[in-house]
Amino acid sequence: MSKTYGIVSTKGGVGKTTIAANLGGILADMNQRVLLIDADFQQSLSNFYQITHKSPLGLREALMNANPESCISQTNIPDLHIIYSNDPEQDILTWLRQSSSHVHYFGGMLTHIQDLYDYIIIDTQGAGGILQESVILASDELISPIPPDYIDSKEFIRGTVRMLKNLELPVSLRSIRPAIPSLHGLIYRQDRTNHAKIIAQSLRKQFHAQSDGQVKILQTVIASLSSYKKSAGFKLPVHRIEVKRQGNTPSAHDAMLALVHELEPHLSDIIPVWDKKNMNNTESNINNQSVES
Ligand SMILES: Nc1ncnc2c1ncn2[C@@H]1O[C@H](COP(=O)(O)OP(=O)(O)OP(=O)(O)O)[C@@H](O)[C@H]1O
Ligand SMILES: [Mg+2]
Repeated sequence: MSKTYGIVSTKGGVGKTTIAANLGGILADMNQRVLLIDADFQQSLSNFYQITHKSPLGLREALMNANPESCISQTNIPDLHIIYSNDPEQDILTWLRQSSSHVHYFGGMLTHIQDLYDYIIIDTQGAGGILQESVILASDELISPIPPDYIDSKEFIRGTVRMLKNLELPVSLRSIRPAIPSLHGLIYRQDRTNHAKIIAQSLRKQFHAQSDGQVKILQTVIASLSSYKKSAGFKLPVHRIEVKRQGNTPSAHDAMLALVHELEPHLSDIIPVWDKKNMNNTESNINNQSVES
């Protein structure tokens, strides 16, 4: 039975798709069976990797009328599958709004395929909404990238705690719906001038007080590195693109691996392995990585 991570945020453009794609990519290279699901009508995750064997069916059919297994496509990364988004007109949203039990549809779909995978990672559209709510309730755990700016991060606390509290049912009704999953805040796009540790400490304190332990701030911090953008251009996970780097900032490989080991301690003995053939062109292009401001 798989573990499902929902990648959520109350804000757009914070790094959700990048984390969903790269977490999926590194887990697959760590010999895990992984399914990505693109629940954002913008289709960014669907376009992140190459789709090598494409099902004619995508998320619309998986949610609305088909056997979800028939909606799975294969990416260019072995063991990394995807249910792509094919809903540019946001028909799913309209459909979910018409149904009084909308929040259960995503979870219902997953029950048909969760035995096929070790991990299911779902990317969502920023700024909440019915589909994101449905993903939250179908997830075992949530990950939310936190912008490094202090004011943004305070907004993040307020918005995230509100989003989770809104979904909570009164105690008397909790038996009819799964509990709200816990959320990992991931301090994201940290650059050298920011004080990651100070922000992290402050966030930890505030979240502890406001969320009854439901929200935890991860120790792993993801730096702002040009390799994340480059990896999307190469349609490869970033740990393959930037294995090592000079200076104090950990490489993308080391940061993503630290993230996996922190989230999934039972994988601590495993490191990612991939076929290095055909990587020469990409590696020669990434020698002068720089930290973005
Ligand atoms: N660690 C990083 N360092 C530098 N750039 C990054 C990093 N992570 C993501 N980016 C870039 O930031 C931009 C936004 O990232 P991404 O698309 O993952 O955000 P998102 O939360 O999914 O956005 P949306 O809400 O529009 O779906 C992209 O151009 C991406 O390449
Ligand atoms: Mg996105």
